[in-house]
Amino acid sequence: MTGAKVIMTFPVTPTSHLLAEYEARGGYGTLRKVLASMKPEDVTKEVTASGLLGHGGAAFPVGRKWQVVHLNDGQPHYLCANADEGEPGTFKDRWILENAPHLLLESMLIASYALQVRNAFVYIRGEFDLPYRRLAGAVEEAYAAGYFGERILGTDFACDLVVYRGAGSYVCGEASALITSIEGKKGYPRNRPPRLTVRGLYQKPTVINNVETLANVTGIVRDGAEAFRKIGTPKSPGTQLVSISGHVAKPGVYEVEYGYPVEKFLFDDCGGMLGGKPLKCIVPGGISTKVLTREDIAGLTYDHKAFEARGSQLGSGGMIAIAEGTCMVRLLQVMLRFYHHESCGQCTPCREGMGWLHRIIDRIVAGQGRPEDIDMMVRISDANDGTTICGMGDAAGYATVGIIAKYRDEFEYFIAHKRSKCGGRLEVDHGQVAEAAYA
Ligand SMILES: Cc1cc2nc3c(=O)[nH]c(=O)nc-3n(C[C@H](O)[C@H](O)[C@H](O)COP(=O)(O)O)c2cc1C
Ligand code: SF4
Repeated sequence: MTGAKVIMTFPVTPTSHLLAEYEARGGYGTLRKVLASMKPEDVTKEVTASGLLGHGGAAFPVGRKWQVVHLNDGQPHYLCANADEGEPGTFKDRWILENAPHLLLESMLIASYALQVRNAFVYIRGEFDLPYRRLAGAVEEAYAAGYFGERILGTDFACDLVVYRGAGSYVCGEASALITSIEGKKGYPRNRPPRLTVRGLYQKPTVINNVETLANVTGIVRDGAEAFRKIGTPKSPGTQLVSISGHVAKPGVYEVEYGYPVEKFLFDDCGGMLGGKPLKCIVPGGISTKVLTREDIAGLTYDHKAFEARGSQLGSGGMIAIAEGTCMVRLLQVMLRFYHHESCGQCTPCREGMGWLHRIIDRIVAGQGRPEDIDMMVRISDANDGTTICGMGDAAGYATVGIIAKYRDEFEYFIAHKRSKCGGRLEVDHGQVAEAAYA
């Protein structure tokens, strides 16, 4: 990680993924402390008191999720780390898996102890190569050192871990699709209720947390909830790994304290925009979050409440910086092609709506758009809101409505003049943003 107001909670070295280095820094010491002196419910209490929020996109309070699992209920419980990381623009879990896999494993052991989990899973994105190899190597080392299996560290605690590789579906990052995929079925999201913490994997109580969320657990239990709360803001304690890409001079993964000024992050820490171009807007947290214009981010701080007040969200922390000259019509075209391709097809509004949106935007870009197309796209997006099994239908709608609301003039111009208001060239951006239209 680089940057000024960056909290170096995990210094990276070429060997920081290895057990020897992790242990030399005190790694697995927190697990030792937990097994020796804490009851499972004490761990959950500490995590709840920390106010830790989920980092997978929805910012759900972790303690509240864990508390739903009843201890000593005679049922098996499961824990799944969500390492699918399919949200475009997001590559921070990958950073943890490559550089700090033992931090995730120690945290998963502590969480498994707290939740009485005997079998834990990591569901990892199928396209990941180095992250998978680093994680698999760390699991092997941890087993050899006695951190997994029976009688861990000489106690009665036992836990096994399976690393399950996905097969390239974006929707399998959605929690219920993920467990359906682990069960060996087609990765379709499930209707809720019942909640997964009540009836999840193999119909048993299951906690699913994002990799980054879980990676926070060791530090919270080691230093205490109070120390964790000293970082960030009262409503958003701690930090977030922001993976930034797009037209920015220094793309990468930065650990940003909640409450940090967004403009300072973009223009100082990330070195400003490529080639000194002015910033047009940001996609703040994966393409499922609404764009914020240059004006929107004036004086904005990096925390959940502040982003909500400006009509967007922090999402997965996958920020994309977009320079002036980028055509928002063609940017939306790239996004809609993605959503259409990834819709699992179970829900009519998502299955049909994604196809309609994709066809309409293709028509506009081909110079055959109609003036009524813009409102039709908004209506189709609104029809998805709250009417689908999983959040993907909503998310695609938010992305569409968000861009049209801020850049309607560009859609009108494209339809009237059969060309982009911003010029023409479609640019592949460092391979990090899928594609962006750039003048
Ligand atoms: C279509 C879709 C894709 C998702 N992909 C991911 C993902 O790749 N990684 C992730 O952690 N959460 C993803 N989520 C969110 C998960 O459903 C779930 O909320 C999250 O893993 C819970 O972890 P957290 O509470 O620690 O954030 C996705 C949600 C949807 C609707
Ligand atoms: S919203 Fe889309 S991706 Fe989600 S379950 Fe329905 S059809 Fe599948």
